[in-house]
Amino acid sequence: MATVVKGVISRTKNAPTELVDITIPDPGPNDVVVKISTCGVCHTDLAYATGGINDEYPFLLGHEAAGVVETVGDAVTHVEVGDYVVLNWRAVCGECRACKRGRPWYCFDTFNASRPMTLADGTELTPALGIGAFAEKTLVHEGQCTKVDEAADPAVACLLGCGVMAGLGAAMNTGQVGRGDSVAVIGCGGVGDAAIAGAKLAGATTIIAVDRDPNKLDWAKDLGATHTVDASATADVAEAVKELTGGFGADVVIDAVGRPETYQTAFYARDLAGVVVLVGVPTPEMRLEMPLVDFFSHGGALKSSWYGDCLPERDFPMLIDLFLQGRLPLDKFVTERIGIDGVDAAFKAMESGRVLRSVVEL
Ligand SMILES: NC(=O)c1ccc[n+]([C@@H]2O[C@H](COP(=O)([O-])OP(=O)(O)OC[C@H]3O[C@@H](n4cnc5c(N)ncnc54)[C@H](O)[C@@H]3O)[C@@H](O)[C@H]2O)c1
Ligand SMILES: [Zn+2]
Ligand SMILES: [Zn+2]
Repeated sequence: MATVVKGVISRTKNAPTELVDITIPDPGPNDVVVKISTCGVCHTDLAYATGGINDEYPFLLGHEAAGVVETVGDAVTHVEVGDYVVLNWRAVCGECRACKRGRPWYCFDTFNASRPMTLADGTELTPALGIGAFAEKTLVHEGQCTKVDEAADPAVACLLGCGVMAGLGAAMNTGQVGRGDSVAVIGCGGVGDAAIAGAKLAGATTIIAVDRDPNKLDWAKDLGATHTVDASATADVAEAVKELTGGFGADVVIDAVGRPETYQTAFYARDLAGVVVLVGVPTPEMRLEMPLVDFFSHGGALKSSWYGDCLPERDFPMLIDLFLQGRLPLDKFVTERIGIDGVDAAFKAMESGRVLRSVVEL
């Protein structure tokens, strides 16, 4: 029996979101209906609403969610009814070339629900990142559900579903930050601050937070930054990072903004043979012009980080355990808890820089 629930959609480009009835079909063999407890508001939801991802409107927004498995398809073995899960947008297939080469975090054929959710008139919805969780319930593939310790507050646990995982993983997985490393993070929003927390957890001894908003630098310090650089008041940020690292530059520099100028700063702020990790997402028109010889003479590695190169089944339970043990302050990312009617206001708060994360509680 199909189920009707309330959900937040973006019907057309740049229009306010709408809270409407959503029809969830019966789950396909490997699908799961999840009753949503919480869902964080991420930049990508705003990007969907403003036409920055594609034009497959209407979108069912929300993709950073925790909830409880309510119904399972006939062939589901991975989770059971009643399981407390965090949803992910990269359910790896196990069969593609990347998976078979033992690099499933690059999986090119990730799974989503097999059936569409719809509006009351039958119009098919495009769920944000294959999830769509600003809704009382949503339909996903079983592989999109990762069971975690029930002791974790769902407003905290859900954040692993996107931005916080992307930042933690940019440092820990992609950047391979290790004990004694120096790390600089450019852009200290939710993603950059998570990279800072990840660098701390991995044992970095110098962690330099760079932002042009002084408020963000205070939050960054709270999450583990040992030094800060106010980009709005510093002529040469790369030089400032070098000064803070004995004249060398950082071992790993993480660009959590994703603009040509921040990438260029990241490139020159690292030590010879250092690593740049691009986790901020550029837009298609952005261009970079730099001397090719600098790429050669600087050496090292230039990497991009998709979802923090995470493996949800490996990383979500581990990170929740570290949180519950008091070793990873995930709760500090929850700036405000809001209702399902607060998504547009949360978008505005995000744009104003007032919040790391607003979390919708259902
Ligand atoms: N790679 C992934 O899988 C993934 C996942 C989630 C989000 N993201 C991306 O990560 C980026 C950051 O997301 P967020 O939620 O932290 O955004 P945010 O807007 O909260 O944070 C960005 C921060 O960068 C700062 N900033 C902007 N321009 C700057 C500059 N020139 N110099 C220094 N600081 C500057 C802002 O003041 C802000 O604090 C976005 O591009 C987002 O799309 C990537
Ligand atoms: Zn695969
Ligand atoms: Zn997101």
